[in-house]
Amino acid sequence: MAIILDKTKSLFTLQTDHSMYQMKKDRYGVLLHTYFGKRGSVFDYSYLVTYADRGFSGNPYDAGNERSYSLDALPQEYPAYGSGDYRTSALKVRYPDGSFSCELKFKDFEIQEGKYNLPGLPAIYLSDDGTDGRADTLIITLEDTRRLFYVHLYYGVMENLDLITRAVRIENHSEADIYLENVQSACIDFLHGSFDLHTFYGRHVKERTCQRTPVSHGIQSIGSTRGTSSHQYNPFLILSDRTTTEETGNCFGLSLLYSGDFLGAAEHDQYNQTRVLMGIHPDNFTWRIKPGDSFFAPEAALAWSGNGLGQLSRIYHRAYRDNLCRGIWKTKRRPVLLNSWEGVYFDFNGDKLVEMAQEASKLGVELFVMDDGWFGKRDLDVSGLGDWFVNEEKLGCTLASISERIHALGMKFGIWFEPEGINEDSELYRNHPDWAMQIPGKAPSRSRYQLLLDFSREDVREYILSQICQVLDSTEIEYLKWDLNRSLSDIYSAALPAERQGEAAHRYVLGVYDMLEKLHSRYPGMLIEGCSGGGGRFDAGMLYYTPQIWCSDDTDAIERLSIQYGTSFGYPISTMGSHVSKCPNEQTGRITPIHTRAAVAMSGTFGYELDPHEMTREEKETVKSQIEEFKSYYELIQYGDYYRLTNPATAESWHSWQFASSDGSEALLISVALKIHPNGPGCWCRLKGLKEDSTYLVNGEAYPGDVLMNTGLPLPAATAEYESIRLHITEK
Ligand code: DGJ
Repeated sequence: MAIILDKTKSLFTLQTDHSMYQMKKDRYGVLLHTYFGKRGSVFDYSYLVTYADRGFSGNPYDAGNERSYSLDALPQEYPAYGSGDYRTSALKVRYPDGSFSCELKFKDFEIQEGKYNLPGLPAIYLSDDGTDGRADTLIITLEDTRRLFYVHLYYGVMENLDLITRAVRIENHSEADIYLENVQSACIDFLHGSFDLHTFYGRHVKERTCQRTPVSHGIQSIGSTRGTSSHQYNPFLILSDRTTTEETGNCFGLSLLYSGDFLGAAEHDQYNQTRVLMGIHPDNFTWRIKPGDSFFAPEAALAWSGNGLGQLSRIYHRAYRDNLCRGIWKTKRRPVLLNSWEGVYFDFNGDKLVEMAQEASKLGVELFVMDDGWFGKRDLDVSGLGDWFVNEEKLGCTLASISERIHALGMKFGIWFEPEGINEDSELYRNHPDWAMQIPGKAPSRSRYQLLLDFSREDVREYILSQICQVLDSTEIEYLKWDLNRSLSDIYSAALPAERQGEAAHRYVLGVYDMLEKLHSRYPGMLIEGCSGGGGRFDAGMLYYTPQIWCSDDTDAIERLSIQYGTSFGYPISTMGSHVSKCPNEQTGRITPIHTRAAVAMSGTFGYELDPHEMTREEKETVKSQIEEFKSYYELIQYGDYYRLTNPATAESWHSWQFASSDGSEALLISVALKIHPNGPGCWCRLKGLKEDSTYLVNGEAYPGDVLMNTGLPLPAATAEYESIRLHITEK
């Protein structure tokens, strides 16, 4: 059993194979957080809590004159706003009398075998065949001291995955409405420690750049109020010891399975304690809970590693690849694709697409994806969104004719949609202007000439779904790219009354999930790739519905090094859409050898995004062998362990990363020359994940495993910028 209760029933210890988490109901019924970190003795870790007279920190009424008991100083499991803990809180509730002050006390608990699920929200699961080991659920119920509602704290303890998930359900058991103003999914209070906070920031075409800063007094936060998780910050953060490296030291991950507005915050308080929280961003959120109803906050996944950041990432990689992504494409080899976008943009007809597919099929490409521009009036991005009917006039043929001709080549066929988008210049907008998110009486702000549909509304979603299904049912289509090309603004739903407009943004996300779930169950064989102008919605929530996400609209291989490096901290390689595009690159003008472009794209879900007619004969031959090579490495890349060997921002010469099979019998080393130093120093790479006492072949030479890992493999002196090497290492 991964959940251990002490005899007094006041101490809850959750254990995974390597980590441990503990809470304690204290003498006043407050649920304290007492431990998170390395798995150790099951012991009452509240011995670390210091009680002292804390000036200006107040004492709860129950504590009488006990001036040394202050919520403001205690490590709490789920701190609520307004009762004397002045730090960032996890919960803020507007009571029927308009007040906000809330105190939570332990009420009850329940233990269930297996992992809980959340209605309408993504959640990590364990497979039924028992291969993922054991999972248990602990639900601790707190009640507010005014006895109006319960806070059910959910814990999923997945022993073998080394992961603990959290979620929260607020249940109104009073006679009146209550309003949630803030409900964070997880909060962790660390009593001591000097931490660094690792976050992943960026912008469109530059997502998930790593930032590591010391946690200092005050509140450091990241978040999104864009309606999506965003290009700008990712709903994943790491707290580490200051000395933690890629391979050594303590670190804690906090990842939110949510695709909308979020907040991630770290506060270092007056007593040098650190609190981290993550959940829905409270700025644009209120939620009415009617008597008897409940609200579920999205799941957060917590992990600890004592072996540095690399190990932490591998915990998330395994769990998200095997226990978050679903459907047949979780285990089936994903097809090598050619996407039309950077090859022809909007400038195509049916014949041109089929000709591209013909060329691509000769190279071994397995899936042809027709991107934006095939529907409505869509020759540019100014019009047509929302009109999901095939523009046969532009294509010069039916969709079925394109699909049939592509299938005749032995390829699969995929298609692009932006279900949430609407142009004012569209049939849909002319017929239903109120379906777009905009505030009556206020001109909406546009972005990429478009608005967004109100996906919080079921009628709107049902209409769009029926339009999409009509297209999908009209011919054989095996792949769907779900794109979104702007952030939300002017958030307002014509279907909600004034006092509930604060629900619209979250309902929008639930609406997106609802429609994805319907697509998922109606088309179980379809591969759905997520996208939001590249990686604007690259989060663990989307991965539950879309096992791969287009990582960035920046297809420059050298830029991609840091984008994919940053993404790898929280997400597996098997989820990162990555393509070889033309040269010079469309975004940067950079010239990069096709060998290197492929090396980078292979470290993701591999594909091409160019017009194959523009390739030279030599390049086509290269592509043929690249595709064969990728297929031979597929298992290793998609399911192997991933190791970051260098950081592209600081790599001296070669930037390297590596895949190793889980049994250590095989590895693939990839290195890209970022800087050239004539007459430069030698360069070595210490390999990972091999067996110390086995012998390996590298380029025909035999090396003992311990030598490759401890001393390293010398890399040749780089002679040209952006050249690359791929080395296959096999056990003899
Ligand atoms: C943004 C996506 O990221 C691109 O790949 C492409 O699909 C365009 N949208 C199409 O409008």
